[in-house]
Amino acid sequence: MHLNRRLLFSLFGGVAGVSLIFAAYQTVGEIHTLRDDVQRQALVLAESQQRPAQQVLRGGSVRDQQAFVDQFENHERLAGVGLYDAEGRQLAVTSGLTSVPEAPAAVKKALQTGRVRGEFFAAAFTPMHILALPVSSAGILIGAVAVYHNVAFTAAPIWRHAFTSVAQTFLIVGITLLIVRWSLGRPLHRMTQWLRDLHSGNIPPGGELPNEEIFQPLASEVTRLATSLNTARAAAQEEARLRDTAQSIWTPEMLRISVQTKLDGSRLFAVSNREPYEHGYKGGSVTWTVPPSGLVTALEPVLRACDGIWIAQGTGPADRETADESGRLRVPPDHPQYTLRRVWLTPEEEEGFYFGFANEGLWPLCHIAHTRPAFRAQDWEHYRAVNQKFACALLDEMKNDKNPLVLAQDYHFALLPRMIKEKRPDARVAIFWHIPWPNPEAFGICPWQRELLDGMLGADLIGFHIQAHCNNFLETVDRALESRIDWGHFTVNRQGGLTAVRPFPISVAFGADGAAPSESSFLDRADLLRELGIEASWIGLGVDRVDYTKGIPERFRGIERLLDRYPEYQGKLTFLQIGAPSRTHIKRYQDLMTEVQQEAERINRRFRSGSWKPIVFLERHHSHEEVRRYYRAADFCLVTSLHDGMNLVAKEYIAARDDERGVLILSRFTGASHELADALAVNPYDTDELADAIHTALTMPVGQRSERMRRMRAVVQEHNVYRWAGNLIAELAKVRLEPAAGASDGPAAKPGRPVRAVMANRAAAR
Ligand code: F6P
Repeated sequence: MHLNRRLLFSLFGGVAGVSLIFAAYQTVGEIHTLRDDVQRQALVLAESQQRPAQQVLRGGSVRDQQAFVDQFENHERLAGVGLYDAEGRQLAVTSGLTSVPEAPAAVKKALQTGRVRGEFFAAAFTPMHILALPVSSAGILIGAVAVYHNVAFTAAPIWRHAFTSVAQTFLIVGITLLIVRWSLGRPLHRMTQWLRDLHSGNIPPGGELPNEEIFQPLASEVTRLATSLNTARAAAQEEARLRDTAQSIWTPEMLRISVQTKLDGSRLFAVSNREPYEHGYKGGSVTWTVPPSGLVTALEPVLRACDGIWIAQGTGPADRETADESGRLRVPPDHPQYTLRRVWLTPEEEEGFYFGFANEGLWPLCHIAHTRPAFRAQDWEHYRAVNQKFACALLDEMKNDKNPLVLAQDYHFALLPRMIKEKRPDARVAIFWHIPWPNPEAFGICPWQRELLDGMLGADLIGFHIQAHCNNFLETVDRALESRIDWGHFTVNRQGGLTAVRPFPISVAFGADGAAPSESSFLDRADLLRELGIEASWIGLGVDRVDYTKGIPERFRGIERLLDRYPEYQGKLTFLQIGAPSRTHIKRYQDLMTEVQQEAERINRRFRSGSWKPIVFLERHHSHEEVRRYYRAADFCLVTSLHDGMNLVAKEYIAARDDERGVLILSRFTGASHELADALAVNPYDTDELADAIHTALTMPVGQRSERMRRMRAVVQEHNVYRWAGNLIAELAKVRLEPAAGASDGPAAKPGRPVRAVMANRAAAR
């Protein structure tokens, strides 16, 4: 390590300066003490000689006077003694005291004042001290006695301290340099080498910086920076590779750039009921979890990529404590990338809005799963009020933003698009409906179908997973509302506002979730089974919220049928069902949980032998990381939804199988089955078909199995969630905002210049 001159100069200068100041201070103190000592000794001596001096001055001969002063010869430091007459003239001085003045000023002053006088002076370059004591006899001044000291010795501390401070300076600077070299130089050198390796690409992604305790805070930041650099490099390499192979795979980076270009400075606002992070308590401290939700899985990467604002209901016990007074906080909690604004609902609002109208009304209405919807006027009122509450929060969040982009999510917010558009005509508003849209006859039983449709048509863009749901929606609008539908361009013109209705098949992040590929899925599987205490040759897997639309009892009956029809699997195949409890406040969901438990027990009772049983029901929410281990261990994944908008479990399973093993068995009634032609398609109501599909999956030749998985992986990789968001946002950004009559004011809409949305293809539509 080379130390630069500035560091050396400042070290030397600083240390030397401080040492000198201290040395000077000490020297002055010491000199004062020595001089005080000299004065004290001189006084004691002079006083002790006052009487003898009186006798010699009064009647002594010159010889007596000389004898008197000579008795003080050869004393260390004491230079001698002098006798003076009443005028201050020298009578006798100790032999050898030749250089002192004949009539010293101190003697004169002592005689004039009648008081003892002392002063320092130089005699022939020798520093001296004189103390003069007046001598009287019978009240008359008869002369003075003077005591002389050589005070050259008082200069010694100056040299001693000067030498010490120079030595100290060298010592301190030397030690400091050694410490700097050992403690900073070496870690710095290692860190520099590490950064050099990183720069040249010799550090693998995720490679940790050597543990340099002294630089720990810096090391964490550098590691984070390095991770971003590696991610960006990997993304750039991947993009270059894809460009070469003429594919176009959306990445978080592409989405970010695409959204930034499309938004042109506007910001992205997402609204959903479910929040991406819930805070709670564990062992007295605050913790957080990601709720089980396909919507959250899909939307989270989008918000991260665009640093947007997500407005959602605060539902966690520690949610208020972790947000500011407006309900805002930065998330993800461990690596903040966007803002979450929590909206608080009263228990009554949650009951009527969420459990009531959304989940006992719209959910069963839109899913053809044979659970009868319940429509209560009170729930509807809450639904409307909560939509208004969220609309107010959203309007507040975007009050300073021009032309904001709003992505409202799901069946909880059918009324919100109109509420927003009325106040902020300059906003581009989309609503994405994550669940199926049934045919007009089915939807028509809802007493508030017109209000719902009108609320949704406040949006510029309405998205569904598949074209069939778009068609159902347009037909429903056609039957229920006054409007003009353009079937060529799938737009609805109602009261001068134009809404496009488009399919956007939602997906997963695929490979961008940061999960490292496993070394060996075989070993992982062995570990997992050991942990669960399971001995089985084949593993099947189901991952769901416990919801009646997911067909879990039907799935269990498929397993039962398999064991009946193909007894060779008895004792050898175990089906793992991960079931996250959901909406447990609603009776239908409580009943379903009981039914699922009882079905599992019944089938287990029938086939159990020794420590083996056919069904293991893991009744709790599992994190993404936990579920990924199960995905990779399973020989087949069973998705048997009775009706599903998309079903992201199917896509997650495919994304996790980078070993190209495993077979997906997929209900025909999911949106995902429209894209995943290489899954084994089943009708979940047909138990025999389910049993046969499982048997086919387990006996499928390895080559065919990998080929199917490879093709499905290519589909999911290409149609990933970044493409979903990119397409949705691109379509929304195409909306042109034109001046129109009748639109109300809003912060960004200047009075007198209201705007309304038209699609870019409107001219073509005519
Ligand atoms: O499928 C619709 C949906 O909103 C999904 O996004 C999500 O998986 C599920 O419902 C979550 O339900 P909830 O938020 O009521 O737990």
